[in-house]
Amino acid sequence: MPNIKNLTSLNMSNIPPVKEYVSLKPYTSFGIEATARYFAAFSGEDELKQLLSNPVCSEVPALIMGGGSNILFTQDYQGLVLHNNIRGLEILEENEQSVVIRVGAGENWDELVGYCVRQGWAGLENLSYIPGQVGASPIQNIGAYGAEVKDTIKMVHTLNRHSLMPLTYSNADCEFDYRQSIFKKQLRGKRVITHVVFLLSKKPRYNLNYGTLNVTVRQKGAVNLTNIRQAVIDIRRQKLPEPDETGSAGSFFKNPVVDQNKYRKLVSNHPDLPSYKLNKKHYKIPAGWLIDQLGWKGYREGDAGVHPNQALVLVNYGNATGRQIYELATRIRKAVRDHFGIDLDYEVNIL
Ligand code: EPU
Repeated sequence: MPNIKNLTSLNMSNIPPVKEYVSLKPYTSFGIEATARYFAAFSGEDELKQLLSNPVCSEVPALIMGGGSNILFTQDYQGLVLHNNIRGLEILEENEQSVVIRVGAGENWDELVGYCVRQGWAGLENLSYIPGQVGASPIQNIGAYGAEVKDTIKMVHTLNRHSLMPLTYSNADCEFDYRQSIFKKQLRGKRVITHVVFLLSKKPRYNLNYGTLNVTVRQKGAVNLTNIRQAVIDIRRQKLPEPDETGSAGSFFKNPVVDQNKYRKLVSNHPDLPSYKLNKKHYKIPAGWLIDQLGWKGYREGDAGVHPNQALVLVNYGNATGRQIYELATRIRKAVRDHFGIDLDYEVNIL
């Protein structure tokens, strides 16, 4: 570890200031108290390069953070947190059918969705009201209400954290899968996403197959982008915690995939088991249902709890610690394993 003088002496130069002992509470959607030993924000590739190329910075571990909507700190972070604040939206191509836009990774996700809907650009509307920043969307291939962001991503621009060279990934290069991408696997922690390029349609094909979405949209009147966005927001508000009021990271667990044998066993014991057939041999089971069956929905211990309307979401009612949330998650995982023989994977990154 370099001494304090070393790192903060960077503040003398023209690179973004490195602050010390910065509370991360405002930077994560869980709203949990944790301190970054060092913290700096960057608003462009040059600032990021300057920060990463400084030998002093490379002496401590660095964590790139966007909106902090998928992260749980269980202790203080002893390295340098780099907050991605790259903004801007640029139209790269446009014709009667479609538009290609390049968006800074530090833009707010839902503001982007709202903007696209107002422009009449289709593709992101089902992903309304998801907390976080644009740069996080390809990392875990965010998805909701029958849509996944991979279906609109054309390219992802990144910076190699070590060589500082720019590297662009096509949609295929990103190896997208359910809540998964190359940036979460082989390239975990190795690339900084600077911009995301989206291909959106001006001739929308609406996607209303998920659950009650169709009904909720039609209750609003015409089927159009604005009403789809509003319907998704309404459904999310009913089921999920209000991001500005209750701390959470959305789904804490991923929905598990089981093989046919396991699926048959589960259905014979639980004929009402909801599931989604992925292919001939595999089924996706809602983790929220499994957790709910075991009576955890609405459970609360101090300020750590399970959301009363969606058992997949762990919440911080105010002053829960990361440890408390993590311990609750561990107990839930064990209960699901003991009862159903299923190992739940965390969707949230636990640090
Ligand atoms: N269910 C229960 N009890 C619960 C929760 C769900 O019985 O407490 C049942 C529901 O009745 C339904 C099924 O489980 O039959 C699926 O529930 P839901 O439609 O709410 O979706 P989910 O699979 O639990 C996923 C995403 C959410 C996304 C919704 C809607 C994951 C891990 N989660 O949840 O994503 O909003 O679908 O598309 O895939 C997120 O990733 O942060 C997130 C909120």
